[in-house]
Amino acid sequence: MVAPCSNLKDMLHTYDSRIAISALSKEVGVEIRGFKLIEAIASGALSRKTAMRKSLESCMAHAGLLVFREQGFPLSGDEQVRISSLFGAGEMESTHGVHKKADNEHIFRLSNDDDEGIVGPGAEWHCDGSFTEDVFSHAGYHIVEIPENGSAGTSFSHLGVVNDLLDPKELRVLEQMATVNSNSGVLHPIVFTHPMSKRRSVFFHLAMSGAVVHVSESGQRTALSKDEMASLLNRLSDLYNHSRSALHHKYEAGDLVMIDNWAVAHRAQDGSFSRRDGLRVVHRTTVKGNYKLSAGNLSLPESLPQGKGTPPTWFPPEAVWVEGYVGFRWRPCEPKDTSGGRRSLGQVQMQTPCWDSSKQFSNPVPSRDAWTYRFARDEL
Ligand SMILES: [Fe+2]
Repeated sequence: MVAPCSNLKDMLHTYDSRIAISALSKEVGVEIRGFKLIEAIASGALSRKTAMRKSLESCMAHAGLLVFREQGFPLSGDEQVRISSLFGAGEMESTHGVHKKADNEHIFRLSNDDDEGIVGPGAEWHCDGSFTEDVFSHAGYHIVEIPENGSAGTSFSHLGVVNDLLDPKELRVLEQMATVNSNSGVLHPIVFTHPMSKRRSVFFHLAMSGAVVHVSESGQRTALSKDEMASLLNRLSDLYNHSRSALHHKYEAGDLVMIDNWAVAHRAQDGSFSRRDGLRVVHRTTVKGNYKLSAGNLSLPESLPQGKGTPPTWFPPEAVWVEGYVGFRWRPCEPKDTSGGRRSLGQVQMQTPCWDSSKQFSNPVPSRDAWTYRFARDEL
């Protein structure tokens, strides 16, 4: 267990020696049993001012996520908001639609049934709030209804481990790149330093990126073509799915998973949108961050203007530019609508990543290093 989480273990044992805290994998995730967050808040041991909160936040920044077992089944929306507000800037940042069955406006109620919650988003690796400049600092996921065989969990991937998996040539290219959110035009650097752990980390939204910009050492700007984008996104997907970076969580009744949204990406597991194994409901909370994830170090603006469907004039003609809720589609598939036609095309596409068959790539399968070729030529 990393040092900040060992410190948390000592602190929690001082509070209650029966608390069990253990690593979920070598580099990602920590599980805590026998520790009810709401009771610790009620006792005064846990508040924004106490060392226990800081220790929880520090462990989360390094391990990516904390799985709090046995928190209640279910926690109320008010309780989940109180717990979530311990972290980051201390207030919710809620940009979601509020479902009629959500018991608090800050609860994003997600389900595989339209009558029970909002269906659709989350099938690809992403960080919540990627369409904002600051990107939410933390998020909480509380399971409310679990499908029968416990399937349809959430997968997490450590952005610092992803950075460590890249080879030096790839890293040098990525450090000169920024991703443009298709839904807002906001730019984020792909490689950044986590503000608390100080780890170099790799940020990307694999379902809502509309362009990737490259800035050379001399300040020359360009943007990636379809082949380069498809190659890059396939490579990043492989790294996020890597056995070292990924943790595939299966929910138990009462779980509250709190993540540092700048330390891990996440995605809904296969089957999350199907009713085959029964009803699934997850309550998500999102926390306002203390920092902006800015691409200013590349002398890039905070956002590029959207609305006309056309890229900035400095984009080369072959460059990708996508606007809208669903970004660049980077691998082939057939959209699978398990809702019986009740969902919008956008929702179906979010569930099943696929590219538009009318916009084929020049090569059906771009070569694995197509995205580095143009920018690392001098090293070849
Ligand atoms: Fe999400």
